[in-house]
Amino acid sequence: MQKNDKNIYVTQPYLPPLNEFLPYLEEIWKNKILTNSGPYHQQLEQKLCEFLNVKYISLFNNGTIALLTSLQSLRITGEVITTPYSFVATAHSLLWNGIKPVFVDIEPYTLNIDPVKIEAAITPHTTAIMPVHCYGTPCNTKVIQEIANTYNLRVIYDAAHAFGVTDNGGSILRYGDLSVLSFHATKVFNTFEGGAIICPDEQTKKRIDYLKNFGFADETTVVAPGINGKMSELNAAFGLLQLNYIDKAIEQRKKIDHFYRQKLKKIKGIQLLIKPPKTITANYSYFPIFVEPNYKLDRDELYQKLKDNNIFGRRYFYPLITDFPMYRGLPSASPSNLPVATEIANKVICLPIYPSLTEDILNKIINIISGEQ
Ligand SMILES: Cc1ncc(COP(=O)(O)O)c(C=O)c1O
Repeated sequence: MQKNDKNIYVTQPYLPPLNEFLPYLEEIWKNKILTNSGPYHQQLEQKLCEFLNVKYISLFNNGTIALLTSLQSLRITGEVITTPYSFVATAHSLLWNGIKPVFVDIEPYTLNIDPVKIEAAITPHTTAIMPVHCYGTPCNTKVIQEIANTYNLRVIYDAAHAFGVTDNGGSILRYGDLSVLSFHATKVFNTFEGGAIICPDEQTKKRIDYLKNFGFADETTVVAPGINGKMSELNAAFGLLQLNYIDKAIEQRKKIDHFYRQKLKKIKGIQLLIKPPKTITANYSYFPIFVEPNYKLDRDELYQKLKDNNIFGRRYFYPLITDFPMYRGLPSASPSNLPVATEIANKVICLPIYPSLTEDILNKIINIISGEQ
């Protein structure tokens, strides 16, 4: 992708100083281990368990393959209840497993799947729920688990946005049967491309490790039709280096979030995502705004105005997953079933947020939105 230096995009990947990466490369050149659970892969798994305060993690080459594998590992079939307000990979992971997605509307404040509406969507074919911690805001994990227990369903969280988010009990990645992370370049913590599954116990991790390596349990034994989901040593080494900077990167994002909130709360017709309660440590991964009818422009006009000034916000998540051709024929994809998601998708713009965003640019963005530019 060709980039214009003047353009400000919704995100910019955090890159540690290049010279700090060179020793990692020298080590790879020396030991000639490029993949297949090499030393950096193992180190990153251990360091991430410590950083995220989780027991077991299995690294992947991206979040989408991790989602596919999480469903395989629990042998999920039939129908899975999920949200239309997410990145399309959430639902695609179901279709790739031959599973029918059943869409349930979202809550107006968290923008996560509305647990009150889940029960009505359960059928004899339902086997699991796949909620998303949208923008890193924790789902109502307690009620979702109660429903899952009552109906004997599995819960797999798409936690692609939730790296480092905690509540007063620890990492929110501990909820459900499995949680899946993405370390894509656009994420708070990136390994260029990458992902992971958080596993509750050693047995589950073992099965997932087999599945991501073609199903190999040892040199001559294949226990399942696995896939190639392994993270390479290059990506794992980069992840190790990134971890040294993650606290600083999140701190800088937090400052930008505060800046936006201070300035934007005064602008008529611009709504913000509710601030997380004090018990939540956020990761400030996205900064969505919602353009209300009493703002002077409609959402697409503001989006275009920002663009005309070289500010490339993103309408995450618009269109809804349920608007895409492979989903829109499903009964649960009808807009009348999803009034909240439909309304939010038509109002949202995610503003640029990333550690190196300068105050000048932030002021420019505010001026454009407030109409002073
Ligand atoms: C909610 C959500 N799920 C899944 C993915 C897929 O992750 P990846 O790009 O690492 O395959 C992403 C991001 O890309 C995402 O935002």
